[in-house]
Amino acid sequence: MTTTTPDYRTVEPADVTHWFRAGQTHQFPAGAGATILYQDRQIAVFYFARQDKWYACQNLCPHKLENVLGRGLTGEQDGVPRVACPLHKKTFSLTTGENLNGECPPVALYPVRVEDGYVYVGFAD
Ligand code: FES
Repeated sequence: MTTTTPDYRTVEPADVTHWFRAGQTHQFPAGAGATILYQDRQIAVFYFARQDKWYACQNLCPHKLENVLGRGLTGEQDGVPRVACPLHKKTFSLTTGENLNGECPPVALYPVRVEDGYVYVGFAD
């Protein structure tokens, strides 16, 4: 059996063609992540409650290709919101996707907007 890795590419807000309704705001934990499924892609959505900011990135950690980033530890590093993979603590910026403490490839990022109590994640396909 072969498996393929879904195609994760950063989506800029200007490129969004479909706002996927991911759920109601209260379904997402404050200060932590949750994972949604869009087509064949797992997307980690994070709510930074203190700043009232939302972020989304691929759930797949580029280090060992495990779908775990939604269970990562969130925080800020030099003012940059970030998530640390729960497995080996590789840390990724949630504003650029870059790996802040290693040589891993960046993670793909997705725009998030909140409207009428619902969370939407933007995709270009
Ligand atoms: S699998 Fe994420 S840091 Fe190793």
